[in-house]
Amino acid sequence: MLTPLQLQRYRDDGYLVLPGFKSAQAVRAVRDRALAIVEAFDPAAGSGVFTTKDQAAKSDAWFLGSACDVRCFFEAQAFDADGRLMQPKAESINKIGHALHERDPVFAAFSHGPELAELAADLGLVAPQLWQSMVIFKPPRIGGEVLWHQDATFLCTEPSTVTGFWFALEDADASNGCLQVQRGGHRGPLRERFVRDGDTLAMQRLDDTPWPAAADAVPLPAAAGTLVVLHGLLPHCSAPNRSAHSRAAYTLHAIDGASRWLASNWLQRATIPAGF
Ligand code: FE2
Repeated sequence: MLTPLQLQRYRDDGYLVLPGFKSAQAVRAVRDRALAIVEAFDPAAGSGVFTTKDQAAKSDAWFLGSACDVRCFFEAQAFDADGRLMQPKAESINKIGHALHERDPVFAAFSHGPELAELAADLGLVAPQLWQSMVIFKPPRIGGEVLWHQDATFLCTEPSTVTGFWFALEDADASNGCLQVQRGGHRGPLRERFVRDGDTLAMQRLDDTPWPAAADAVPLPAAAGTLVVLHGLLPHCSAPNRSAHSRAAYTLHAIDGASRWLASNWLQRATIPAGF
């Protein structure tokens, strides 16, 4: 149960940091499971390279087909000029997406339960629907930069209700690319929309409000087990990871069923997803 002060902070700041939300045991279970998924992944099965700097790369079938599946995506810097992996496979994956919470029993257990249901209710999600889950590895040395963005760009509803639940699976700080946010920035407009037309994906500019200056970025160091709740309109980013330590996180994105999921979102499902 959130305290009135925590709720006020979320409304004012657009984010909330909840240390120790998940036990060390729960975190270890999903970390181990994520590594097992990567271990079982055959790189020849897909060519997904995920980078926010190159939206065109996302238009491949591997990405679109991940909406209801569990698929691995490589870091943009994972390969040398000849297309060979420069690090072990386990340290070359950018992320796993986007239906872990439905398709994988270990992640399903982590993604559901009374604590999360109560938290979502406190945040005002009356009928939450879990549309997307990701493990973001931020591997050592080649973990890519994530540019300023708003999650509502990728998961758009009318009105906007998307809410991010970001779980630290490893300790994150400035050295390995922790989350950075613009405090209070959720009161600004949605700047961009990532829209789908058939199998074509494109970024549409909606508003010319500039992204925050580097000086306005508030770093959010988070120990493993911490949950950071992110308002869907809050600008956030993270620096590349040049350290020797990975910075794995698991994210869930929920919307309120009272809002309308746009048919032009990249992520489409045959059935309405369940809540927590
Ligand atoms: Fe994000």
